[in-house]
Amino acid sequence: MRKPLIAGNWKMNKRVGEAVETVKALVPLVAGITAADIVVCPTYTALHAVGQAVNGTNLQLGAQNCYLKESGAYTGEISPQMLRDVGCMWTIIGHSERRQYFSEADELLNEKLKFALSAGLKVMFCIGETLQERQSGKMNDVLERQVTRGLQGLTVSQLVETALAYEPVWAIGTGVNATPDQAQEAHAFIRGLARKQFGESVAAELRIQYGGSVKPDNAKELMMGPDLDGFLVGGASLKADSFAEIAKAAL
Ligand code: PGA
Repeated sequence: MRKPLIAGNWKMNKRVGEAVETVKALVPLVAGITAADIVVCPTYTALHAVGQAVNGTNLQLGAQNCYLKESGAYTGEISPQMLRDVGCMWTIIGHSERRQYFSEADELLNEKLKFALSAGLKVMFCIGETLQERQSGKMNDVLERQVTRGLQGLTVSQLVETALAYEPVWAIGTGVNATPDQAQEAHAFIRGLARKQFGESVAAELRIQYGGSVKPDNAKELMMGPDLDGFLVGGASLKADSFAEIAKAAL
């Protein structure tokens, strides 16, 4: 059985004080949940303080991005080793905002993914089509390209440490979530791609999160899809109570 993975992507929100306040409110709301992995992903500047606040709890710490070198002349970048120093177990890689605003393409993301995994982080690797791609019938081609190129060269043991997050770009931050049927259909297709690329047992174990306007009132229904293994939550993860409700709906 795949253990649900629920992560809050706080994006460029919350300064250190607010981040610690949110996580302190979250800890008692999700205390005792061991049937799911629950991850919070604050900004870089809040990672250390939030890492201290989650220490000894069932919450795990994640970053939103990282670079593909350990150290050196890469102004403004952060390495996976540095993220581990402050207590990160996870990082997100390939979020559509990184692809769109920072021109991160499949090849670069594949390098980042492999490097983060080799440094001992677990990764939530994001994929998803735009509205235009969906409407013009290119959705499956786009997902196939993102999965095939994104996961290229990963070993089976690295895949165990990788989750995919299916986030249709048109559903992110819009309030328009994919319907449970749309989400399940995409997840089944993505699992099929993993099966083709890596075989049945890897595909059966691969966790695929859904992301895009997940809220307490749609989480339960979305989770009914047999290929949905949790959520990557943006806006609704900024408040402790709504994120906790989503986590509970995923159990
Ligand atoms: P949203 O964002 O929940 O605010 O739609 C999801 C994401 O970008 O991960």
